Amino acid sequence: MIDSSYSENPCLRQTLKLQELLASLAASDCEFVVIGSSALALQGWDVTPSDLDLFTYNSEVDRIRSLLDVGQDKAAWIEDGEARRVECETRLGPVDIYLDVSGDLTFDRVEKESVVIVFGREGHSVKVGSLAHVRDMRAAVGRTPVPVDSIPPAHKNETPHVIAIDGPAGAGKSTVTRALARHLGFTYLDTGAMYRSVTLAVLEQRADPDDHGEIARIADGVEIGFRGGKVYLGDRDVTAAIRSPNVTEATPHIAAFPEVRSAMVKRQRQLFTEGAYVAEGRDMGTVVAPDAPLKIYLTASPEERARRRSLETGEPVTEVLMAIEERDELDSGRKLSALKAAEDAVVIDTTGRSIDEVVEELAGLARDRGIV
Ligand code: C5P
Repeated sequence: MIDSSYSENPCLRQTLKLQELLASLAASDCEFVVIGSSALALQGWDVTPSDLDLFTYNSEVDRIRSLLDVGQDKAAWIEDGEARRVECETRLGPVDIYLDVSGDLTFDRVEKESVVIVFGREGHSVKVGSLAHVRDMRAAVGRTPVPVDSIPPAHKNETPHVIAIDGPAGAGKSTVTRALARHLGFTYLDTGAMYRSVTLAVLEQRADPDDHGEIARIADGVEIGFRGGKVYLGDRDVTAAIRSPNVTEATPHIAAFPEVRSAMVKRQRQLFTEGAYVAEGRDMGTVVAPDAPLKIYLTASPEERARRRSLETGEPVTEVLMAIEERDELDSGRKLSALKAAEDAVVIDTTGRSIDEVVEELAGLARDRGIV
């Protein structure tokens, strides 16, 4: 990390920043460097535009060359799609420096191949590499360990056979989703069970809820399986354990960790490439599968939702209502993947309607859209 206390003079500050950056770059063993707002945006960084302006000036190229010890004749500027790139042989070996990148780098490519140089706010300059490295570096400058918007955008048109069903607790999602999947011969995916399973693992391992690294390790490592209508953590049947009140209460907190969300979203997207799914959750239509050909937002009045949950769990309706409202607030208020209807979702209020009626309506929508 490059620590710094810069002069108030913005020109001098930029020069110092650049020199420090390049000195550090020259001393590093990176092979591939990306500097640009798109690359940074893909990583979810919050840099100010002026942090990047510096790199859009051709006049800086000579300085880059001299710091990297690149001869004039050994560095060529290349127009690369929408990016400008200098390919050069340095004393460190070959280096590609992308400047002014826009649009044509995928998140995967940045994640796997790049070292990204970032200027943070408030005079901090940070040098980062892989996403794992991002975590440490951000923590070192007192930011959240992973950028809040760190979930990569979905690939286009990868979910032609996904029906996304979102909505708050008790709206009838599970029953409707399961019945619709059976009706259409699709696989049912309960993403809430995935977040509950991670939470169970976190609670059982007594992980420190302030330790993002530890939570990330658990989320990355848990083996969640769905077999015969049951949920497994490794070989253990946790179907009942993940519905216990303490897991239910802790799940929205654990589900708000960016590390947990990105780990689960990655798995869900992988599943969606393998088959036809009816998937229920909070962010299916908005984040995980925004290209799904049918997105449903199921809702019902809080009282109806509490009444249904109380019938399931045997707890008093008033208590359930309070718990549901608290959970709604956490799920809707979080920064990342908040519960909300996708813009193009069909909103269905299930208050006073039977399951069969709702399933019939959804099956009709699936037929109308040519999904089945
Ligand atoms: O759907 P279910 O009530 O089992 O979900 C439990 C919790 O998991 C939710 O309250 C929410 O915090 C979290 N969740 C989520 N994103 C999803 C599914 C569930 O954050 N896609």
